[in-house]
Amino acid sequence: QTGHTTLDYGFVNTSATKSAVTFIDGDKGILRYRGYPIEQLAQNSSYLEVAWLLLYGELPTVDELGQFDERIRRHTLLHEDLKRFFPALPHTAHPMSVLSSAVSALSTYYENQSDPHNPEHVELNTVRMLAKLPVIAAYAHKKSVGQAFLYPDNSLSFVDNFLKLNFGVLSEVYEVNPVMSRALERLLILHEDHEQNASTSTVRLVGSTGANQFSSISAGINALYGPLHGGANEAVLEMLGRIRDSGESVQRFVERVKNKEDGVKLMGFGHRVYKNYDPRAKLVKESADEVLEALGISDPLLDLAKELEQIALEDDYFKERRLYPNVDFYTGVIYKAMGFPTRMFTVLFAIGRLPGWLAQWREAINDPQTKIGRPQQLYTGAPARDYPGLSS
Ligand code: SDX
Repeated sequence: QTGHTTLDYGFVNTSATKSAVTFIDGDKGILRYRGYPIEQLAQNSSYLEVAWLLLYGELPTVDELGQFDERIRRHTLLHEDLKRFFPALPHTAHPMSVLSSAVSALSTYYENQSDPHNPEHVELNTVRMLAKLPVIAAYAHKKSVGQAFLYPDNSLSFVDNFLKLNFGVLSEVYEVNPVMSRALERLLILHEDHEQNASTSTVRLVGSTGANQFSSISAGINALYGPLHGGANEAVLEMLGRIRDSGESVQRFVERVKNKEDGVKLMGFGHRVYKNYDPRAKLVKESADEVLEALGISDPLLDLAKELEQIALEDDYFKERRLYPNVDFYTGVIYKAMGFPTRMFTVLFAIGRLPGWLAQWREAINDPQTKIGRPQQLYTGAPARDYPGLSS
């Protein structure tokens, strides 16, 4: 503590803003979007209905949702020039890098309509982002597996169109699997917002400078990419795969985590806010068995994840630190069963989180109290000194 500022790494004890979008009670494991419990929304709502709720604060009427869905379908096409952007990147490019770069590139097509304070531009660009991000994501997937890009099919729902863009091929008719469709819808709902997590805080901070929605979302995608945040869902599958391939016992792996050997962490565990079971992780774990069974898939990594969780939850090291599975611990096993490559998992997180980013960006620019994000610091560098040969 010095004169007028308090040092608070990672804003552990600092509220950066007021917000009416999402409520989390970390001790009780409660998550509500605009007051509705996540359990009820995941079970009964849809990605676009929840997106409307987050953006406008109330559930849409049937007509509002119908028009919203229709507008989004009318904006799924990417400018043909933008398609030439993708071959410029190596086929080995991580889909999250492709996503954030393509969203930045997308903004160049609408620079004359990106005034953050023009309500028409805000609405139009929100619809454009919701419509085009899944297409860009699917292009990143197709690029990574060397397959032709497909055009969006506007006769399909948001989720079914996204599944077809990812798994359809020009040489065959694609039939959406209703189990996959419903499971992905629920997973996307579970990711739609999460108050002031690192990527959402990034979106708000970039928006606070007057930057447009595309630039703010691209910044959020980059923040989400990190393995300590959204990148954890990919890191969990890599961790499970390493344990399986190494032949190391789960107990031995847990010991290495507790000894912090070469910085190894139990990925998918722990949370800044939840000091109890992440309610989303509970829902994902419940549906993992059901989805894999319905898809006729058994995956030893799911059993390994459950064994890992069991050992950790009974271990004092994790109990003392209040470390529980978070949203990323089980999602990858389901995404893998659906056929997504591991490096697409965080892209799926980004699609899920997009409505929350857009809602929170909009809340920030409409809040008269929003100030440009410019934290203080405590200076610990060299005292004043003169350039050699000069004296002040
Ligand atoms: C997401 O914020 C959000 O809401 C994010 C998110 C969202 O929806 O937007 O929920 C999505 O990002 C979920 C988190 C995904 N990340 C991971 O699963 C990566 C593994 N988790 C950790 O890196 C960590 O738990 C964080 C980053 C999630 C939270 O870190 P904090 O709150 O800064 O806590 P910390 O790092 O200070 O840890 C406290 C203690 C430390 O031990 P000591 O130094 O006191 O001995 O717990 C230990 C840490 O070493 N610890 C872990 C651990 N997480 C914390 N030890 C082993 N494995 C872990 N996963």
